[in-house]
Amino acid sequence: MNYKKSNLVKNGLLIIIGICLSISCEENEKITKIIDDKAIADENQTSDWLAYGRTHNERRFSPLEDINVNNVADLKVDWFLDLPNDVGLVSTPLVVNGVLYFTGTMNIIRAVETTTGKQIWEFDPKVRDAIKGKQQIGWAHSRGISFYEGKIFTATWDGRLIGIDAKTGKEIWTAVTFDPNRSLNITGAPKAFKGKVLIGNGGSEAGPARGFVTCYDAETGKKLWEFYVVPGNPADGFENEAMEMAAKTWNGEWWKNGGGGNAWHGFTYDEELDVLYFGTGNGGPWNPRIRSPQVDDNLFLCSVVAVKPDTGEYLWHYQTTPGEAWDYNSTMDIVLADLKINGEDIKAILHAPKNGFFYVINRKTGKLISAEPFTEVTWASHIDLKTGKPVLVDGARYDKGPIDIAPDAWGGHSWHAMAYSPQTGYVYIPTLHSAAKYSDKGVVYEGWQSKEFSGGIGVGLSPADKQFSNHPASLQAIDPVTQKQVWSIPQKDFWNAGILTTGGNLVLQGRSDGKLLAYNAKTGEIVWTYDVGLGISAPPITYKINGRQYISLLAGFGGGYARGGIDSYNLGWSYRTHTRRLITFSLEGTATMPVLPPRHFPKPIVDANFKIDEEKASKGMNEYWKCFGCHGDNMFSGGMAPDLRASPIPLIKETLTAVVREGALNAMGMPSFPDMTNDQVENLMHFSRKRAVDTMPDYEKSIKDNITEQ
Ligand code: HEC
Repeated sequence: MNYKKSNLVKNGLLIIIGICLSISCEENEKITKIIDDKAIADENQTSDWLAYGRTHNERRFSPLEDINVNNVADLKVDWFLDLPNDVGLVSTPLVVNGVLYFTGTMNIIRAVETTTGKQIWEFDPKVRDAIKGKQQIGWAHSRGISFYEGKIFTATWDGRLIGIDAKTGKEIWTAVTFDPNRSLNITGAPKAFKGKVLIGNGGSEAGPARGFVTCYDAETGKKLWEFYVVPGNPADGFENEAMEMAAKTWNGEWWKNGGGGNAWHGFTYDEELDVLYFGTGNGGPWNPRIRSPQVDDNLFLCSVVAVKPDTGEYLWHYQTTPGEAWDYNSTMDIVLADLKINGEDIKAILHAPKNGFFYVINRKTGKLISAEPFTEVTWASHIDLKTGKPVLVDGARYDKGPIDIAPDAWGGHSWHAMAYSPQTGYVYIPTLHSAAKYSDKGVVYEGWQSKEFSGGIGVGLSPADKQFSNHPASLQAIDPVTQKQVWSIPQKDFWNAGILTTGGNLVLQGRSDGKLLAYNAKTGEIVWTYDVGLGISAPPITYKINGRQYISLLAGFGGGYARGGIDSYNLGWSYRTHTRRLITFSLEGTATMPVLPPRHFPKPIVDANFKIDEEKASKGMNEYWKCFGCHGDNMFSGGMAPDLRASPIPLIKETLTAVVREGALNAMGMPSFPDMTNDQVENLMHFSRKRAVDTMPDYEKSIKDNITEQ
């Protein structure tokens, strides 16, 4: 062998290895990085955003500090992707090995390049076809996807869990998680961990439901285990000891109405302790005296439940709202933090459910450490730290007549992502300030059983007499160690969006009014505002590629409140007026965004030739419960579907029939109702005309207020 040559080769190799270490191998390593639990649990990894809450801890804190409180004012749009066919966008994108994946309306998933937004592939699970003739109430929102070892997981509205090849966007397996004819739906992001995927579902308002979560093999889609949230009929035997224990906290024939507890959000895997936690939902029906005549705790409603991840075996639970009566889901984020409280190191869960209390729970034992209200709370005076239970105010369960209750069913905090920064030590909660009058007037207790529920929940809600807060929403920072509020920024519109916090001492949050804001994480001072031109509900994410820190956000108003009602309508994000977008920011960005149209308020059509039959209109109002989930409360659309008061289609019976019964607009996301009778369609027609006439003054006020505002 020629010595010189061999030396050269050696040197060459050394050079190559040298380069490799500094650039290309790192790149190479990025591309082949295996996304397992170690990767997902790594808090220091900043190039990607690997899971719903960034890491297994669900903190939504990134240590990245290139964009920081001092230079955030220079943040610019780097690239954007128009999503003209999307409607409600609420999801958290993922960034894995330099590719950004996100789920849009109707669970359509796209993979795009992180530095340009150029589409790599699209996967459409055809939810529109799946909902044909069924699942007619709800909204086409998904809060996210998950990633594990080369696969993406999505759970569709109609109940399928799908494993997708991340490289090709092709389906690998599909598991049907519930009978699609049942009135259940999925809006949550599946939780991928330990070679498994967990998913629950929602829908306890649409029919008798017995909540459950199911766990599948990530590789094959094979079902591994399931865990019921509430016990079934004891005569059928209990699935496990946990159900037997839970059944002792129920009475009467609760199983006939399902019981509820649907776990539709709040799944966390604790990689350190190897425990799985999930939050559980409200009672079904809401009125506890219907569920269980001698009101009792009704386990495991409104709880955080800890189970063994491999088997689903029960470990412990903490119930935030025993004897639930107000729709106080505990299906909100379960954030893991390491805190020092009274000199003791605590592995904690941070949890801010709908009921308005912020909880710090010891996650090794399930024992409550502290709980204080983070918004106006009137149903309980406090949480007794000895028993871990709330102390209810007299008549809170509307058992002594109608009563004003705060928070109401929207909750003090819903699914909008909260965040925890280990740097500031604060938790950031997108807070809602809500109240309503709860009343069981007219509820027939004896034999209350409804196959369909027909939208019934066993309690009537109306506006509260008293105003508890002078702002409908706020963003606040709370110190979980002291339970003290550190700062709070009031907001003038309801339904504020999810949060990101970073090592740059930043908190970023979008608002319903279309503004994306950056705050000083320590002080709450606003340090940057950007007008997206369209209501925001999704949380931003951040990642770093080739030395550049990016912030990405899905802009598109969405979620339950976006379906409509007068306040939501008044935001002016009417159906398909404003293009939905994936927007990415950086300090170096040079993109110019096309300006979106101004706020738009659909004008009700008043047809003088149409003679409204009051009786038919009144019957139509009852039919409309099948439609309000998309077309809006009282027919005020919030932008998820056309405003029917302003649509010419309900003016002509034939066209309305074609759309409603025959599915003429099925491909566009309007479900068909083949079982609806001619009379029912006609009733809806009269109801829509009545609403158009009755709400003309509201429309005129919206226009006037909007002009005054500008
Ligand atoms: C799952 C959501 C959803 C539900 C539930 C729903 N719709 Fe729709 N509807 C839509 C969407 C989305 C469109 C718009 C489709 C398009 O872009 O053309 C639509 C369109 C329509 C239109 C046509 C309006 C126009 O001007 O183009 C009518 C009329 C209508 N729906 C009536 C109803 C009625 C009546 C019900 C209840 C029986 C109902 N819809 C339930 C989502 C829904």
